[in-house]
Amino acid sequence: MKDSGGNRRICPEAVERQLDFCGKIKGLWEGRAERAALACVQTYGCQQNVADSQRIMGMLREMGYGFTQDPYMCDVIVVNTCAIRENAEKKVYGIVGQLVHVKEKRPDVVICLCGCMAQQEVVAQKIRASYRHVDLVFGPQALWKFPELLYEVYTKRGRVFSIEQENGSIAEGLPVVRESGVKAWVSVMYGCNNFCSYCIVPYVRGRERSRQPGDILREVRELVADGVREITLLGQNVNSYGKDLDESVDFADLLEEIDGISGDYLVRFMTSHPKDAGKKLFDTMARCGHVAKQLHLPVQSGNSRVLKAMNRGYTREQYLEKVRYAREVMPDLVLTSDIIIGFPGETEAEAMETVELVKEVRYDALFTFIYSPRPGTPAAALPDPVTRAEKQIWFDKLLMEQNRISGELHREYVGKTVRVLVDGSSGDELWPLSSRTQGGRLVHLRGGLSLVGQYVDVRIVDSNTWALYGEIDGVSL
Ligand code: 5AD
Ligand code: SF4
Repeated sequence: MKDSGGNRRICPEAVERQLDFCGKIKGLWEGRAERAALACVQTYGCQQNVADSQRIMGMLREMGYGFTQDPYMCDVIVVNTCAIRENAEKKVYGIVGQLVHVKEKRPDVVICLCGCMAQQEVVAQKIRASYRHVDLVFGPQALWKFPELLYEVYTKRGRVFSIEQENGSIAEGLPVVRESGVKAWVSVMYGCNNFCSYCIVPYVRGRERSRQPGDILREVRELVADGVREITLLGQNVNSYGKDLDESVDFADLLEEIDGISGDYLVRFMTSHPKDAGKKLFDTMARCGHVAKQLHLPVQSGNSRVLKAMNRGYTREQYLEKVRYAREVMPDLVLTSDIIIGFPGETEAEAMETVELVKEVRYDALFTFIYSPRPGTPAAALPDPVTRAEKQIWFDKLLMEQNRISGELHREYVGKTVRVLVDGSSGDELWPLSSRTQGGRLVHLRGGLSLVGQYVDVRIVDSNTWALYGEIDGVSL
Protein backbone atom coordinates (compact mmCIF):
# COMPACT_ATOMS: atom_id res chain seq x y z
CA MET A 1 0.00 0.00 0.00
CA LYS A 2 1.13 3.53 -0.73
CA ASP A 3 2.21 5.69 2.10
CA SER A 4 -0.11 8.59 2.49
CA GLY A 5 1.61 11.96 2.17
CA GLY A 6 -1.00 13.23 4.59
CA ASN A 7 0.09 10.72 7.21
CA ARG A 8 3.71 11.76 6.77
CA ARG A 9 2.77 15.28 7.71
CA ILE A 10 3.70 16.17 11.26
CA CYS A 11 0.51 17.22 13.02
CA PRO A 12 0.05 20.99 13.35
CA GLU A 13 0.02 20.70 17.16
CA ALA A 14 3.55 19.21 17.12
CA VAL A 15 4.79 22.08 14.92
CA GLU A 16 2.97 24.52 17.20
CA ARG A 17 4.84 23.00 20.15
CA GLN A 18 8.11 23.92 18.47
CA LEU A 19 6.94 27.52 18.30
CA ASP A 20 6.25 27.26 22.05
CA PHE A 21 9.87 26.19 22.54
CA CYS A 22 10.91 29.26 20.54
CA GLY A 23 8.95 31.35 23.05
CA LYS A 24 10.60 29.55 25.98
CA ILE A 25 14.09 30.24 24.61
CA LYS A 26 13.16 33.88 24.09
CA GLY A 27 12.06 33.86 27.74
CA LEU A 28 15.46 32.51 28.85
CA TRP A 29 17.13 35.57 27.37
CA GLU A 30 14.71 38.14 28.68
CA GLY A 31 16.31 40.40 31.25
CA ARG A 32 19.55 38.39 31.10
CA ALA A 33 21.45 39.96 28.31
CA GLU A 34 22.57 43.52 28.01
CA ARG A 35 22.28 43.18 24.22
CA ALA A 36 20.12 41.14 21.81
CA ALA A 37 21.15 37.50 21.45
CA LEU A 38 22.94 36.84 18.15
CA ALA A 39 23.22 33.80 15.90
CA CYS A 40 24.96 32.85 12.68
CA VAL A 41 24.11 30.07 10.27
CA GLN A 42 26.85 28.82 7.94
CA THR A 43 25.63 26.77 4.98
CA TYR A 44 27.52 24.27 2.81
CA GLY A 45 26.27 22.17 -0.09
CA CYS A 46 23.19 22.21 -2.26
CA GLN A 47 20.11 24.43 -2.59
CA GLN A 48 18.16 22.13 -0.30
CA ASN A 49 20.62 23.04 2.44
CA VAL A 50 20.19 26.72 1.62
CA ALA A 51 16.41 26.27 1.95
CA ASP A 52 16.87 24.34 5.23
CA SER A 53 19.09 27.11 6.61
CA GLN A 54 16.38 29.65 5.83
CA ARG A 55 14.02 27.60 8.04
CA ILE A 56 16.64 27.40 10.80
CA MET A 57 17.03 31.17 10.61
CA GLY A 58 13.25 31.53 10.72
CA MET A 59 13.15 29.51 13.94
CA LEU A 60 16.07 31.47 15.42
CA ARG A 61 14.34 34.76 14.62
CA GLU A 62 11.23 33.42 16.37
CA MET A 63 13.46 32.76 19.42
CA GLY A 64 14.50 36.42 19.38
CA TYR A 65 17.97 36.06 17.85
CA GLY A 66 19.43 38.67 15.57
CA PHE A 67 22.01 37.64 12.95
CA THR A 68 25.70 38.33 12.43
CA GLN A 69 28.45 36.87 10.25
CA ASP A 70 31.02 37.12 13.05
CA PRO A 71 31.21 33.87 15.08
CA TYR A 72 32.99 35.71 17.93
CA MET A 73 29.84 37.80 18.45
CA CYS A 74 27.50 34.82 18.48
CA ASP A 75 25.44 33.10 21.16
CA VAL A 76 24.43 30.32 18.76
CA ILE A 77 26.41 29.07 15.76
CA VAL A 78 24.80 26.62 13.35
CA VAL A 79 26.91 24.82 10.73
CA ASN A 80 24.67 23.21 8.10
CA THR A 81 26.80 20.56 6.40
CA CYS A 82 27.07 18.58 3.15
CA ALA A 83 28.20 14.95 2.82
CA ILE A 84 28.08 14.48 -0.95
CA ARG A 85 31.86 14.25 -1.40
CA GLU A 86 34.79 13.71 0.95
CA ASN A 87 36.13 17.21 0.26
CA ALA A 88 32.91 18.77 1.52
CA GLU A 89 33.24 16.82 4.77
CA LYS A 90 36.93 17.69 5.21
CA LYS A 91 36.13 21.37 4.82
CA VAL A 92 33.46 21.19 7.51
CA TYR A 93 35.76 19.37 9.95
CA GLY A 94 38.27 22.18 9.42
CA ILE A 95 35.69 24.88 10.06
CA VAL A 96 34.18 23.14 13.09
CA GLY A 97 37.69 22.56 14.46
CA GLN A 98 38.35 26.30 14.28
CA LEU A 99 35.23 27.04 16.32
CA VAL A 100 37.01 25.70 19.41
CA HIS A 101 38.68 29.14 19.63
CA VAL A 102 35.26 30.82 19.74
CA LYS A 103 34.25 28.46 22.55
CA GLU A 104 37.42 29.35 24.49
CA LYS A 105 36.59 33.06 24.23
CA ARG A 106 32.83 32.63 24.76
CA PRO A 107 32.21 29.46 26.80
CA ASP A 108 28.42 30.00 26.71
CA VAL A 109 28.18 29.91 22.93
CA VAL A 110 26.09 26.96 21.67
CA ILE A 111 27.66 25.30 18.64
CA CYS A 112 25.31 23.21 16.46
CA LEU A 113 26.14 20.87 13.60
CA CYS A 114 23.29 19.84 11.30
CA GLY A 115 22.68 18.76 7.71
CA CYS A 116 23.69 15.62 5.83
CA MET A 117 27.00 14.98 7.61
CA ALA A 118 25.25 15.12 10.97
CA GLN A 119 22.82 12.34 10.01
CA GLN A 120 25.68 9.80 9.77
CA GLU A 121 26.49 7.71 12.82
CA VAL A 122 30.24 7.72 12.06
CA VAL A 123 30.29 11.51 11.98
CA ALA A 124 28.32 11.75 15.23
CA GLN A 125 30.83 9.42 16.88
CA LYS A 126 33.75 11.52 15.71
CA ILE A 127 32.08 14.72 16.96
CA ARG A 128 31.28 13.05 20.29
CA ALA A 129 34.86 11.97 20.81
CA SER A 130 37.02 14.64 19.21
CA TYR A 131 34.96 17.83 18.85
CA ARG A 132 33.75 18.26 22.39
CA HIS A 133 32.99 21.94 21.89
CA VAL A 134 30.02 21.00 19.66
CA ASP A 135 26.86 21.08 21.79
CA LEU A 136 24.10 19.98 19.43
CA VAL A 137 24.11 17.56 16.48
CA PHE A 138 20.96 16.91 14.45
CA GLY A 139 20.28 15.48 11.00
CA PRO A 140 17.97 16.88 8.28
CA GLN A 141 15.18 14.61 9.49
CA ALA A 142 15.14 16.34 12.90
CA LEU A 143 15.41 19.90 11.56
CA TRP A 144 11.82 20.77 12.46
CA LYS A 145 12.60 19.97 16.13
CA PHE A 146 15.51 22.42 16.34
CA PRO A 147 13.80 24.69 18.94
CA GLU A 148 13.13 21.74 21.26
CA LEU A 149 16.68 20.43 20.86
CA LEU A 150 18.22 23.83 21.51
CA TYR A 151 16.01 24.25 24.58
CA GLU A 152 17.29 20.88 25.81
CA VAL A 153 20.89 22.09 25.44
CA TYR A 154 20.08 25.23 27.44
CA THR A 155 18.14 23.55 30.22
CA LYS A 156 20.26 20.40 30.63
CA ARG A 157 23.54 22.15 29.95
CA GLY A 158 24.63 18.94 28.27
CA ARG A 159 25.39 17.84 24.74
CA VAL A 160 22.41 16.72 22.61
CA PHE A 161 22.56 14.32 19.64
CA SER A 162 19.45 13.73 17.52
CA ILE A 163 20.40 11.63 14.52
CA GLU A 164 17.86 8.81 14.58
CA GLN A 165 16.41 7.79 11.19
CA GLU A 166 12.78 8.82 11.34
CA ASN A 167 12.17 7.65 7.79
CA GLY A 168 10.90 10.97 6.81
CA SER A 169 8.26 13.40 7.79
CA ILE A 170 7.08 16.78 6.58
CA ALA A 171 6.59 19.80 8.80
CA GLU A 172 4.39 22.57 7.38
CA GLY A 173 4.25 26.06 8.81
CA LEU A 174 7.84 26.45 10.04
CA PRO A 175 8.93 30.09 10.00
CA VAL A 176 11.41 31.15 7.33
CA VAL A 177 13.87 33.97 6.67
CA ARG A 178 14.22 34.42 2.91
CA GLU A 179 17.51 35.81 1.64
CA SER A 180 15.90 38.09 -0.92
CA GLY A 181 12.55 39.45 -1.93
CA VAL A 182 13.33 38.60 -5.56
CA LYS A 183 14.00 34.86 -5.50
CA ALA A 184 12.73 32.05 -3.31
CA TRP A 185 13.23 28.32 -2.90
CA VAL A 186 10.20 26.08 -2.38
CA SER A 187 10.74 22.43 -1.49
CA VAL A 188 8.17 20.20 -3.16
CA MET A 189 9.53 16.95 -1.79
CA TYR A 190 12.22 15.62 0.50
CA GLY A 191 14.47 12.56 0.43
CA CYS A 192 15.41 10.18 -2.37
CA ASN A 193 14.58 6.55 -3.19
CA ASN A 194 16.94 6.08 -6.11
CA PHE A 195 20.03 4.75 -4.39
CA CYS A 196 22.45 5.61 -7.19
CA SER A 197 25.32 3.39 -6.18
CA TYR A 198 27.78 6.26 -5.47
CA CYS A 199 25.42 8.53 -3.56
CA ILE A 200 24.99 9.12 0.17
CA VAL A 201 21.82 11.22 -0.10
CA PRO A 202 19.19 8.44 0.32
CA TYR A 203 20.94 7.36 3.52
CA VAL A 204 20.97 10.79 5.09
CA ARG A 205 17.83 12.45 3.78
CA GLY A 206 15.54 9.44 4.12
CA ARG A 207 12.76 8.18 1.85
CA GLU A 208 10.93 10.30 -0.70
CA ARG A 209 8.00 12.22 0.66
CA SER A 210 6.00 14.81 -1.25
CA ARG A 211 4.33 17.87 0.18
CA GLN A 212 0.62 18.15 -0.47
CA PRO A 213 -0.08 20.14 -3.67
CA GLY A 214 -2.36 22.50 -1.72
CA ASP A 215 0.46 23.43 0.68
CA ILE A 216 2.87 24.09 -2.21
CA LEU A 217 0.35 26.14 -4.16
CA ARG A 218 -0.45 28.24 -1.10
CA GLU A 219 3.25 28.97 -0.55
CA VAL A 220 3.83 29.91 -4.21
CA ARG A 221 0.71 32.09 -4.26
CA GLU A 222 1.92 33.97 -1.18
CA LEU A 223 5.38 34.46 -2.66
CA VAL A 224 3.98 35.82 -5.92
CA ALA A 225 1.65 38.12 -3.97
CA ASP A 226 4.72 39.36 -2.03
CA GLY A 227 6.38 40.30 -5.33
CA VAL A 228 8.85 37.39 -5.58
CA ARG A 229 9.89 37.09 -9.24
CA GLU A 230 11.60 33.76 -9.40
CA ILE A 231 10.62 30.60 -7.59
CA THR A 232 12.76 27.46 -7.73
CA LEU A 233 11.01 24.24 -6.82
CA LEU A 234 13.36 21.88 -5.02
CA GLY A 235 13.66 18.14 -4.61
CA GLN A 236 16.42 15.53 -5.01
CA ASN A 237 14.33 14.12 -7.87
CA VAL A 238 11.35 16.37 -8.52
CA ASN A 239 10.07 13.96 -11.16
CA SER A 240 9.18 11.49 -8.39
CA TYR A 241 6.82 14.08 -6.97
CA GLY A 242 3.45 12.65 -5.98
CA LYS A 243 4.35 8.96 -6.16
CA ASP A 244 3.83 8.66 -2.40
CA LEU A 245 0.63 10.71 -2.28
CA ASP A 246 -2.90 9.27 -2.23
CA GLU A 247 -3.97 11.92 -4.70
CA SER A 248 -3.13 11.12 -8.31
CA VAL A 249 -0.79 14.00 -9.15
CA ASP A 250 2.66 14.09 -10.72
CA PHE A 251 5.26 16.81 -11.13
CA ALA A 252 3.96 17.94 -14.53
CA ASP A 253 0.46 18.33 -13.03
CA LEU A 254 1.92 20.36 -10.18
CA LEU A 255 3.79 22.64 -12.64
CA GLU A 256 0.60 23.17 -14.62
CA GLU A 257 -1.30 24.16 -11.47
CA ILE A 258 1.43 26.55 -10.38
CA ASP A 259 1.47 28.06 -13.86
CA GLY A 260 -2.20 28.96 -13.34
CA ILE A 261 -1.24 31.47 -10.62
CA SER A 262 -1.28 34.88 -12.29
CA GLY A 263 1.57 37.38 -11.90
CA ASP A 264 4.92 38.38 -13.39
CA TYR A 265 7.14 35.54 -12.21
CA LEU A 266 9.10 32.51 -13.42
CA VAL A 267 9.25 29.00 -12.03
CA ARG A 268 12.39 26.86 -12.20
CA PHE A 269 12.97 23.46 -10.69
CA MET A 270 15.74 21.07 -9.82
CA THR A 271 16.79 18.29 -9.91
CA SER A 272 15.26 16.13 -12.65
CA HIS A 273 16.20 12.48 -12.90
CA PRO A 274 16.38 11.39 -16.56
CA LYS A 275 14.70 8.06 -15.81
CA ASP A 276 11.55 9.86 -14.59
CA ALA A 277 11.58 12.96 -16.82
CA GLY A 278 9.64 12.38 -20.01
CA LYS A 279 7.41 13.74 -22.74
CA LYS A 280 4.63 14.83 -20.38
CA LEU A 281 7.04 17.00 -18.39
CA PHE A 282 8.67 18.52 -21.49
CA ASP A 283 5.29 19.21 -23.16
CA THR A 284 4.05 20.86 -19.96
CA MET A 285 7.20 23.00 -19.70
CA ALA A 286 6.81 24.06 -23.33
CA ARG A 287 3.16 25.01 -22.80
CA CYS A 288 3.41 26.87 -19.49
CA GLY A 289 4.35 30.54 -19.81
CA HIS A 290 5.60 30.89 -16.23
CA VAL A 291 7.89 27.87 -16.45
CA ALA A 292 11.48 28.72 -17.42
CA LYS A 293 12.79 26.79 -20.40
CA GLN A 294 15.65 25.47 -18.35
CA LEU A 295 16.40 21.90 -17.43
CA HIS A 296 19.05 20.48 -15.15
CA LEU A 297 19.19 16.86 -16.31
CA PRO A 298 22.19 15.09 -14.75
CA VAL A 299 23.54 12.40 -17.07
CA GLN A 300 26.43 11.37 -14.73
CA SER A 301 28.08 9.24 -17.46
CA GLY A 302 27.90 8.85 -21.23
CA ASN A 303 28.55 5.10 -21.12
CA SER A 304 25.70 2.62 -20.67
CA ARG A 305 27.76 0.06 -18.73
CA VAL A 306 28.85 2.70 -16.22
CA LEU A 307 25.28 4.04 -16.01
CA LYS A 308 24.12 0.52 -15.09
CA ALA A 309 26.82 0.18 -12.45
CA MET A 310 25.70 3.56 -11.12
CA ASN A 311 22.12 2.22 -10.92
CA ARG A 312 20.82 5.16 -12.93
CA GLY A 313 18.01 3.34 -14.73
CA TYR A 314 18.64 4.64 -18.30
CA THR A 315 21.10 4.08 -21.13
CA ARG A 316 23.12 6.63 -23.11
CA GLU A 317 20.68 6.25 -26.02
CA GLN A 318 17.58 6.73 -23.85
CA TYR A 319 19.10 9.86 -22.36
CA LEU A 320 19.95 11.30 -25.77
CA GLU A 321 16.43 10.61 -27.00
CA LYS A 322 14.98 12.55 -24.06
CA VAL A 323 17.25 15.50 -24.81
CA ARG A 324 16.26 15.35 -28.48
CA TYR A 325 12.55 15.48 -27.62
CA ALA A 326 12.95 18.22 -25.00
CA ARG A 327 14.75 20.40 -27.56
CA GLU A 328 12.19 19.61 -30.25
CA VAL A 329 9.39 21.04 -28.10
CA MET A 330 11.58 23.78 -26.52
CA PRO A 331 14.07 25.00 -29.16
CA ASP A 332 15.49 27.62 -26.76
CA LEU A 333 15.97 25.17 -23.89
CA VAL A 334 18.95 25.88 -21.62
CA LEU A 335 20.31 22.50 -20.61
CA THR A 336 22.77 21.72 -17.81
CA SER A 337 24.01 18.49 -16.27
CA ASP A 338 26.10 16.80 -13.58
CA ILE A 339 28.89 14.40 -14.48
CA ILE A 340 31.05 12.09 -12.39
CA ILE A 341 34.44 11.10 -13.77
CA GLY A 342 36.34 8.08 -12.44
CA PHE A 343 33.51 5.92 -11.10
CA PRO A 344 35.12 2.66 -9.82
CA GLY A 345 36.08 0.46 -12.76
CA GLU A 346 35.49 3.17 -15.38
CA THR A 347 38.02 2.87 -18.21
CA GLU A 348 39.58 5.68 -20.19
CA ALA A 349 37.49 4.70 -23.24
CA GLU A 350 34.32 4.89 -21.14
CA ALA A 351 35.26 8.28 -19.73
CA MET A 352 35.93 9.51 -23.28
CA GLU A 353 32.41 8.37 -24.25
CA THR A 354 31.19 10.86 -21.65
CA VAL A 355 33.31 13.57 -23.28
CA GLU A 356 31.81 12.61 -26.66
CA LEU A 357 28.29 12.83 -25.23
CA VAL A 358 29.06 16.30 -23.92
CA LYS A 359 30.26 17.34 -27.39
CA GLU A 360 27.10 15.91 -28.92
CA VAL A 361 24.63 17.44 -26.45
CA ARG A 362 26.43 20.78 -26.12
CA TYR A 363 25.24 21.66 -22.61
CA ASP A 364 25.06 25.31 -21.64
CA ALA A 365 26.95 24.47 -18.45
CA LEU A 366 28.13 21.44 -16.51
CA PHE A 367 28.81 20.56 -12.90
CA THR A 368 31.69 18.09 -13.02
CA PHE A 369 33.04 15.94 -10.20
CA ILE A 370 35.72 13.35 -9.68
CA TYR A 371 34.23 10.29 -8.01
CA SER A 372 34.56 10.35 -4.23
CA PRO A 373 33.89 7.12 -2.30
CA ARG A 374 31.16 7.52 0.32
CA PRO A 375 31.36 4.92 3.10
CA GLY A 376 28.28 2.70 3.21
CA THR A 377 27.34 3.14 -0.48
CA PRO A 378 27.62 0.10 -2.82
CA ALA A 379 30.17 1.81 -5.11
CA ALA A 380 32.57 2.36 -2.19
CA ALA A 381 33.03 -1.43 -2.02
CA LEU A 382 33.99 -1.78 -5.73
CA PRO A 383 37.60 -2.15 -6.89
CA ASP A 384 38.90 1.24 -8.05
CA PRO A 385 42.24 0.63 -9.78
CA VAL A 386 42.61 3.93 -11.68
CA THR A 387 44.85 6.49 -9.98
CA ARG A 388 43.61 9.91 -8.97
CA ALA A 389 46.18 11.49 -11.31
CA GLU A 390 44.78 9.58 -14.28
CA LYS A 391 41.21 10.54 -13.39
CA GLN A 392 42.34 14.15 -13.19
CA ILE A 393 43.59 13.97 -16.81
CA TRP A 394 40.18 12.67 -18.00
CA PHE A 395 38.46 15.31 -15.90
CA ASP A 396 40.58 18.10 -17.40
CA LYS A 397 39.74 16.91 -20.93
CA LEU A 398 36.05 17.04 -20.08
CA LEU A 399 36.36 20.49 -18.57
CA MET A 400 38.31 21.81 -21.56
CA GLU A 401 35.59 20.64 -23.98
CA GLN A 402 32.80 22.07 -21.84
CA ASN A 403 34.55 25.43 -21.43
CA ARG A 404 34.94 25.63 -25.19
CA ILE A 405 31.25 24.80 -25.72
CA SER A 406 30.01 27.23 -23.03
CA GLY A 407 32.18 29.95 -24.58
CA GLU A 408 30.77 29.25 -28.06
CA LEU A 409 27.15 29.18 -26.86
CA HIS A 410 27.65 32.39 -24.92
CA ARG A 411 29.15 34.12 -27.98
CA GLU A 412 25.92 33.37 -29.87
CA TYR A 413 24.08 35.70 -27.46
CA VAL A 414 26.25 38.71 -28.40
CA GLY A 415 24.22 41.27 -30.35
CA LYS A 416 20.89 39.81 -29.19
CA THR A 417 18.40 41.47 -26.85
CA VAL A 418 17.19 39.28 -23.99
CA ARG A 419 14.89 39.77 -21.01
CA VAL A 420 16.61 39.31 -17.67
CA LEU A 421 15.67 39.55 -14.03
CA VAL A 422 18.08 41.80 -12.09
CA ASP A 423 18.76 39.85 -8.91
CA GLY A 424 21.51 41.68 -7.03
CA SER A 425 24.96 43.15 -7.04
CA SER A 426 27.71 41.31 -8.92
CA GLY A 427 30.63 42.61 -6.88
CA ASP A 428 32.27 43.80 -10.13
CA GLU A 429 33.00 47.54 -10.34
CA LEU A 430 32.57 47.84 -14.10
CA TRP A 431 29.49 45.62 -14.32
CA PRO A 432 27.90 46.09 -10.88
CA LEU A 433 24.58 44.29 -11.38
CA SER A 434 23.95 40.59 -11.72
CA SER A 435 20.94 39.21 -13.54
CA ARG A 436 19.65 35.98 -15.08
CA THR A 437 18.10 35.19 -18.43
CA GLN A 438 14.94 33.09 -18.54
CA GLY A 439 17.17 30.07 -19.08
CA GLY A 440 19.20 30.96 -15.99
CA ARG A 441 22.38 32.25 -17.70
CA LEU A 442 24.28 34.86 -15.70
CA VAL A 443 24.37 38.39 -17.21
CA HIS A 444 26.45 41.20 -15.70
CA LEU A 445 25.01 44.65 -16.26
CA ARG A 446 25.77 48.33 -15.81
CA GLY A 447 23.13 50.12 -13.75
CA GLY A 448 21.98 51.07 -10.26
CA LEU A 449 20.80 48.79 -7.46
CA SER A 450 17.31 50.30 -7.78
CA LEU A 451 16.83 47.91 -10.70
CA VAL A 452 17.05 44.83 -8.44
CA GLY A 453 13.83 42.85 -8.66
CA GLN A 454 12.91 44.17 -12.11
CA TYR A 455 12.75 42.48 -15.48
CA VAL A 456 14.71 44.51 -18.04
CA ASP A 457 15.56 44.08 -21.72
CA VAL A 458 19.30 44.02 -22.25
CA ARG A 459 21.50 43.91 -25.32
CA ILE A 460 24.31 41.40 -24.87
CA VAL A 461 27.58 43.15 -25.74
CA ASP A 462 30.22 40.68 -24.56
CA SER A 463 30.64 37.16 -23.18
CA ASN A 464 33.10 34.64 -21.80
CA THR A 465 32.94 31.00 -20.68
CA TRP A 466 31.02 31.77 -17.51
CA ALA A 467 28.92 34.84 -18.12
CA LEU A 468 27.32 37.33 -20.49
CA TYR A 469 27.65 41.13 -20.34
CA GLY A 470 24.73 43.37 -21.23
CA GLU A 471 23.65 46.98 -21.67
CA ILE A 472 20.16 48.02 -20.65
CA ASP A 473 17.89 49.14 -23.51
CA GLY A 474 14.81 50.03 -21.52
CA VAL A 475 13.33 49.27 -18.16
CA SER A 476 10.06 47.30 -18.17
CA LEU A 477 8.12 48.14 -15.06
N1 5AD B 1 31.31 11.41 -5.87
C1 5AD B 1 31.33 12.42 -6.78
N2 5AD B 1 30.24 13.10 -7.14
C2 5AD B 1 29.06 12.76 -6.57
N3 5AD B 1 27.82 13.24 -6.72
C3 5AD B 1 26.99 12.56 -5.91
N4 5AD B 1 27.67 11.63 -5.21
C4 5AD B 1 28.97 11.74 -5.61
C5 5AD B 1 30.16 11.03 -5.26
N5 5AD B 1 30.16 10.05 -4.38
C6 5AD B 1 27.48 14.29 -7.68
C7 5AD B 1 26.44 13.83 -8.71
C8 5AD B 1 25.20 14.54 -8.27
C9 5AD B 1 25.77 15.82 -7.72
C10 5AD B 1 24.86 16.58 -6.83
O1 5AD B 1 26.91 15.39 -6.99
O2 5AD B 1 26.86 14.25 -9.98
O3 5AD B 1 24.29 14.76 -9.32
FE1 SF4 C 1 21.80 10.81 -5.13
FE2 SF4 C 1 20.81 9.53 -7.28
FE3 SF4 C 1 19.14 10.42 -5.35
FE4 SF4 C 1 20.37 12.19 -6.95
S1 SF4 C 1 18.87 10.63 -7.62
S2 SF4 C 1 20.19 12.31 -4.71
S3 SF4 C 1 22.36 11.20 -7.32
S4 SF4 C 1 20.70 8.83 -5.14
